[in-house]
Amino acid sequence: MKSNKLALAALLLWVITIAVFAWFFIRGNTTAGTDGRTEIVLQPGERDFVMTEMRGLLAATQEIMEGASQNDAQRIVKAARGAGMAGAADVNPALMVKLPVEFKKLAMGMHGDMDEIAKAGESGKPVPELLKMTSSALAKCVACHQAWQIKAGS
Ligand code: HEC
Repeated sequence: MKSNKLALAALLLWVITIAVFAWFFIRGNTTAGTDGRTEIVLQPGERDFVMTEMRGLLAATQEIMEGASQNDAQRIVKAARGAGMAGAADVNPALMVKLPVEFKKLAMGMHGDMDEIAKAGESGKPVPELLKMTSSALAKCVACHQAWQIKAGS
C-alpha cells in the first residue's frame, strides 16, 4: 500500500514537472507589456544580442532594396543569405528557452524566407519576384513587432 502511494506521488511530481516545463516552453519568460504587447524579459546582455541581430536584419533589408534598385540579383542573394537560418543557429540555449514558442516560430519563418529569397535569386528568378518574396518576409517582421516587446530584466 505504502509503495503504491509513493509511486503515485512520484508520478504526480513527474506530471507537474512536465506541465511546468511545457508552460515555460510555450510562454517563454514573458509578462504584460507597457503598450498592449507582451513583453519578453531577458538579461541585459541577451537583450543586446537580440537587438544587434535586429539591426543586422534591418541592414540586410536595406541591402536587398539597394540590390533591387540596381537590378543586382547577386547583391540580393548575399544580403538574404546573411539574414537566413545560418545566422540564427548560434543563439544560446539559455536565451532560447526564454523566447515564447510563437516568437520562435515567427523568427524561424522569417529566417527561412530569407534563405528562400537567396535560393530564388541564385536560380535566376527575376528581381521583382525577389522583391515580392522580401515583402512577404517583412510581413513577419511587422507581425512580430506588433506582438512583442523586449525588456531587460533578469
Ligand atoms: C520573432 C520576432 C521578430 C522578428 C521576426 C523580427 N523582429 Fe525586430 N524586434 C523584435 C522585438 C520584440 C523587438 C523589440 C521591440 C520593443 O521592445 O519595443 C525588435 C526590435 C527591432 C529593432 C530595433 C533594434 C534596436 O537596436 O533598438 C529593429 C531595427 C528591428 N527589430 C528590425 C527587424 C527587421 C528588419 C526584421 C525583419 C527582417 C525584424 N526585426 C524581425 C522582434 C522581431
